[in-house]
Amino acid sequence: MIDTAGAASPRTDRDAGDSALLDVRGLSIDLVGDEQQRGLVEDVSFQVGRRRSVALIGESGCGKSLTAFALLGLLSRATRVSGGSALFEGVDLLTAAPQQLARIRGGPIGAIFQDPMTSLDPTMKVGDQIAESRRLHLGESRKTARKHAERLLDQVGIANAPERARSYPHELSGGMQQRVMIASAIACDCKLLIADEPTTALDVTIQAQILELLADLQRGLGLAVLLVTHDLGVVADFCDDIVVMYAGHVVERNSVDEAFARPRHPYTKALLGAVPEGREARAKLPTIPGRVPPAGSFPEGCRFQPRCEFAVAACGEPQREVEIEPGRHTRCGRVAHDLLQLEARGGTHDESSART
Ligand SMILES: Nc1ncnc2c1ncn2[C@@H]1O[C@H](COP(=O)(O)OP(=O)(O)OP(=O)(O)O)[C@@H](O)[C@H]1O
Ligand SMILES: [Mg+2]
Repeated sequence: MIDTAGAASPRTDRDAGDSALLDVRGLSIDLVGDEQQRGLVEDVSFQVGRRRSVALIGESGCGKSLTAFALLGLLSRATRVSGGSALFEGVDLLTAAPQQLARIRGGPIGAIFQDPMTSLDPTMKVGDQIAESRRLHLGESRKTARKHAERLLDQVGIANAPERARSYPHELSGGMQQRVMIASAIACDCKLLIADEPTTALDVTIQAQILELLADLQRGLGLAVLLVTHDLGVVADFCDDIVVMYAGHVVERNSVDEAFARPRHPYTKALLGAVPEGREARAKLPTIPGRVPPAGSFPEGCRFQPRCEFAVAACGEPQREVEIEPGRHTRCGRVAHDLLQLEARGGTHDESSART
């Protein structure tokens, strides 16, 4: 079991802002050499507070993986960061030298992807892969690193760890491979785990076990987590904060409780299906009529406008992200305008959400 000694203290909203472990501001990503397809990701800002878990959600093609890959310095050559910053413990991940980034990745920032086999080396025993990472990042001796690797495998719930450490990845089930991937990600004093759909490739029972493991590790080790997911049940159960992306923009940032109870952006509202039971939602993201426009054919102004049931002519104007309450942001001019009007009349923000 995981050692929960020294577990995180109770979390508050302030953790997400002032003491952010990761502070992303204005991140933009373009397709290289294609002027038509600028702004695959545009002006993306969010924070991950220490020990917070932040969900990055949105339909397919909205830019979640590009955002995660940019933070890890793993964008393909076809795409490039064209603006913004991403401060992690004083280092800008977007401009750091490749060697510095390599030290951070696999060290204080761990990553888990959908398919563990794309990250595990098929020619190396799993224990050696984890030990290698500790030798590289922490300078441990071969023997100490190997002992640590066995302990890590045990920590992520792999029975008979010393024996399993001598297995090659293909000798393990998908769930066990993902556990190895997680052990590898947290192997070197990890503080932030970036997980891009870490359970999508697994069957439902194993998914639940892996998520439980992630939640245990987060609490036990005080990790911060940035979780890309399509699963609202996972968001409800596992995450503190939510970042909603649509067509390369962040359209809402909020606490999960607030977003489920009072989604501010019409896209968040549509995604959550305006579920009155809030965090009781257990469904996958429901479908919304229409499709996310491909890069290169984003509409002017609000990119969600053609699918938005509340759209008015003014939505064709560029939309800024506005902080409507401390820590709560929306990129919908209508919502921000209505809230200001309501405040001027002495109403509460709760009323406005019901009216949008
Ligand atoms: N190498 C690339 N070349 C061209 N377009 C790309 C490339 N990588 C990403 N894109 C485009 O950028 C957009 C965002 O892609 P991304 O993979 O970040 O989406 P996503 O939100 O992670 O979707 P999903 O939920 O399906 O994983 C998509 O329209 C995608 O087609
Ligand atoms: Mg993706």
